[in-house]
Amino acid sequence: MRAEPSTVDSLLEPLHRWVWTDVDRRARKLLRFSETEADGARDITRAAELTRDPVLRSLYLRHADDEQRHAALFRRRGQELLDSSKARVFEANWFAPGERGLDDLEVSSEADEALLAFLHLSEKAAAGRFVVYAKVLDCDPRTRAVFARVLKDEVFHMSYTRKQLARLAPRREGLRLWQARAGRLWKAYLRFASALAGVLGTLMLAIQYFVILPLFALLAKRSARREPEGFARSRPVLTLEGQY
Ligand SMILES: [Fe+2]
Ligand SMILES: [Fe+2]
Repeated sequence: MRAEPSTVDSLLEPLHRWVWTDVDRRARKLLRFSETEADGARDITRAAELTRDPVLRSLYLRHADDEQRHAALFRRRGQELLDSSKARVFEANWFAPGERGLDDLEVSSEADEALLAFLHLSEKAAAGRFVVYAKVLDCDPRTRAVFARVLKDEVFHMSYTRKQLARLAPRREGLRLWQARAGRLWKAYLRFASALAGVLGTLMLAIQYFVILPLFALLAKRSARREPEGFARSRPVLTLEGQY
């Protein structure tokens, strides 16, 4: 199996190049990738504990070991770059998310077939992205080498998950992949929707603060000007003889 970038990632190549040009952003992204890889390693170790299939268990353990090594590689390179730069910049995680997918993994609720289908799609997407990242990193051969190293393992993860899925569900392979794709699309939609809700919420609050609130402040000032100054005569005391 070969890793190939998705059409979207290929089209966004100039954007990826821009994202990776800045040294500080590169460092922070690598550190973030490191966290995702370490998180993936923990989840896959849990999958190895839960599965009853001995072949899968040994493959999961090797997979978890690989992800842990990726975490260390990204962390080391990210730290080296961070030490050479101190500025804070926008990380652009939406455009270049790394091995996204592993962060969505819910091992305890997934059967082996569903987990393998999900892992296959995540690893395939990650491998495709790493091809693009390595391609655009002509300015930093050492980081490019890290991606090239990690990519080899991602291709292995991509192919073993597909082979094992074919072994466990020879007739339902397509269905499982389709279900996993739908799940990933739904999670992508939720991520997009929550990001959009965040932006819209900020926008609405800004409009309330800068447009609506000053209007009410102006009206309050105007009506305050119409109020007589000093003490006002109190209203006459009501007699309590009738209901009205
Ligand atoms: Fe990885
Ligand atoms: Fe992986």
